[in-house]
Amino acid sequence: MPFDALRFAYDHRSEVAWLGQNTNHLVPPEVVRGALEAAIRERRYEGYPYGPGDPELIDLVARDLGVPGMTPFLTAGGTESLYMIARALLGPGDEVVASDPSYLIIHRFIELAGAHTRNLDVYAPPYRLTAERIQEAIGPTTRMILLIDPLNPLGSAYPREEVRAIAELAHDHHLTLLHDVTYRDYADHPALAAEFAPEATVTVWSVSKNCGLAGLRIGGFLATAERTRAIARFNTNDLGVNILAQVAAIAALRTKSTWFGAVRRQTRENGARIRATVAGVPGASLPVYPSQANMMAIDLTGLGLSPEAVQQELLERHGVFVRAGTYLSIAHGAEFVRVSFSNPPADLARFERAFPEAIRALAPRAVPRPA
Ligand SMILES: Cc1ncc(COP(=O)(O)O)c(C=O)c1O
Repeated sequence: MPFDALRFAYDHRSEVAWLGQNTNHLVPPEVVRGALEAAIRERRYEGYPYGPGDPELIDLVARDLGVPGMTPFLTAGGTESLYMIARALLGPGDEVVASDPSYLIIHRFIELAGAHTRNLDVYAPPYRLTAERIQEAIGPTTRMILLIDPLNPLGSAYPREEVRAIAELAHDHHLTLLHDVTYRDYADHPALAAEFAPEATVTVWSVSKNCGLAGLRIGGFLATAERTRAIARFNTNDLGVNILAQVAAIAALRTKSTWFGAVRRQTRENGARIRATVAGVPGASLPVYPSQANMMAIDLTGLGLSPEAVQQELLERHGVFVRAGTYLSIAHGAEFVRVSFSNPPADLARFERAFPEAIRALAPRAVPRPA
């Protein structure tokens, strides 16, 4: 049986430094604890939530993203939105211009709709799509552009002018621009395509990675009212999104401006520690630095090691959970591991010790022993 990293990580959850899922472990727990405790005391979970979602939450999301005239829709994480969007807007034979590496789960949803992706290789500078390359890739069956910004797994982000140019391309070619902004709060200068091409853009948002609520499963999308209705036809969650998740999201979004700056600062500091560690391991390198998200890829090609071997060694021997690139890239998955780092400094200290030791164990000549 091949090693099941996820199973091992979850079985040892309390001992593992969780650097494997881009989750956020830096939000002060009191941000949501009081609201969740009150909701549990009131046994709100006994009743169904209001179907369209708590109006305060809808309003907070609209204000957080700040594009007037767009209608937010709540789903069980951004994931459910991505599935609904693919189902509602794509059909057999349709093509979606996308990247590789990418968050490949979206590509799978696109395929379930009978469509397919045209994956432009972005594992080279500037490590993201460009309007020019997208334009060249648009053909007679293209229906959609998938823009993940910042990009999981590389941490590259799209400058405002590039977002504008891509949005204009979508508008001019009558394409949908699926703009996944799950990691936008980590970026220095995030820009929303919906601002430039509101009719063409469907924006997918999440509170998993910014508000640290991944386990509660809440997110959604935002589009013009007409588009939102068309996509919402594919909603299976007709009785509403988990009520405790809504309560927590309201508490987090109400106060995000007061605590997210500290999350971001700590995340960047952690990224710098990872860079210093990787710099001490000849043959390992960071394609993108600094990451504009809370994750980055560590390229292993100079070491000749498989990412699965590195993942297993780090997890089994050191309790450090990172992800092998195969989950995130068809063409380059064998070349990198992804590490995420919105984590307490103690988790980073474990990575600093574990990474050189793990590489030394797998490739003894690669890393000199410390004097
Ligand atoms: C680019 C991207 N979109 C969407 C998601 C899913 O987020 P959610 O937890 O809101 O379903 C992820 C999760 O890793 C992601 O990386």
